[in-house]
Amino acid sequence: MKISLKDNRGVPVSTTNLKSLERLEQACDLMNGYFNDPFALIDEALAEDPGFVMGHCFRAAFMATATDKTFLPEVRKSVEAAEALAGKANDRERGHIAGARAWLESDYDRVAEHYQRVLIGHPRDLMALQLAHLRDFLTGQAMMLRDRPARTLHAWDESVPGYNYVLGMQAFGLEESGDYARAEERGRQAVALQPRDSWAVHAVAHVLEMQNRTAEGIDWINKGSDYWSGDNGFAYHNWWHLSLFHLDRGNTAEVLALYDRLIRNTASTMPMELIDAAALLWRLHLMGVGVGQRWKEVADKYEATVEDGHYAFNDFHAMMAFAADGRTAASERLLATLARRAGATDWNGVATRTVGLPLCQAIDAFAKGRYAQAVEILLQVRPVAYRFGGSHAQRDILSLTLIEAALRGGQGRVAQAIAGERTELKPLSGVNRLLAQRAAGLAKAA
Ligand SMILES: [Fe+2]
Repeated sequence: MKISLKDNRGVPVSTTNLKSLERLEQACDLMNGYFNDPFALIDEALAEDPGFVMGHCFRAAFMATATDKTFLPEVRKSVEAAEALAGKANDRERGHIAGARAWLESDYDRVAEHYQRVLIGHPRDLMALQLAHLRDFLTGQAMMLRDRPARTLHAWDESVPGYNYVLGMQAFGLEESGDYARAEERGRQAVALQPRDSWAVHAVAHVLEMQNRTAEGIDWINKGSDYWSGDNGFAYHNWWHLSLFHLDRGNTAEVLALYDRLIRNTASTMPMELIDAAALLWRLHLMGVGVGQRWKEVADKYEATVEDGHYAFNDFHAMMAFAADGRTAASERLLATLARRAGATDWNGVATRTVGLPLCQAIDAFAKGRYAQAVEILLQVRPVAYRFGGSHAQRDILSLTLIEAALRGGQGRVAQAIAGERTELKPLSGVNRLLAQRAAGLAKAA
């Protein structure tokens, strides 16, 4: 007979060790708020009960969400440990074991399939929901970011621990789907319930970014930061959002100060952190702002892993670092690697072929002054770029690069069209005003 306890939300867990279950609960809470260090707690849980299948599943899957190839040996170890325990696992846990295996293989379609099944049976499985939400983010599935949390809400209310996290996830999905009013409402509700919910804070920041409410955005990030910024593995990204608000207001000195103090103040090689660093420096690069030696540090980190990539969104940001830092050899190595990888039939192969590789070619062309080529690729790929993941705010870099390439390449009409498109979305944006003026001047002169 299988013996199981239930977690705080009534979800069955195959262990008789209360301490292990308690550690898992705490780790889950840290994971959902991106606080450090859930893995230390899971290690304690596994030391208590080495046969704790959900401990192994947690370790494998959450580690895999970092999209860092160097973690894969550890992910594999945990997947294999979980698989060896499948015989004593319940149905829900077997879904997690299969989900962890799919994470290891970067098979994001199967990741979604397995957690979906788990969540239909156990809508209060917060760990499955978070992992599936991260999958939806990594694969650019805006509607699933919105709908997956929504499907579970029938089983939740304020009395269930972690309710705020479900609201925060839904808020982000609503924002990515363009429903800004409901996104803001849900996000603010989540933060009111739990001010430490950094993802819900982030969801509201996205709404403010998309609506160009820069003064409110600056206030929103700053005023709650004491709650979520300490010892938090996601704080850098909320600070990145703060820097975008400042950037639109033309406060580039503040952006650089934020970069140094809060965004790139560690020696971290975590892909998600490097992405934000490269994306921010590239925005400054497009605006003609000198960033000193800052590219060097980011480009060095990317060079060390250029052939290891297994997530096209990361590769694209590596290319920006190489291009801006004048690293022709590294750019060529990356393009050759991507050309090989583009032949694969897995998720990353498809994302590389259809989005990652052409966008890297566009960045390479931009860096070499082949602006017409950059414009042509960006015009073609930008509408389908969601396929390689990231948020609208992150992929906005494609519009900015396209406009700048058109301006530098003398294509005033293209610049005018895309700057106009961006102005319709953000009529009060300072950046848009400048770009639209330059575009109109160029189009007129043509
Ligand atoms: Fe974001």
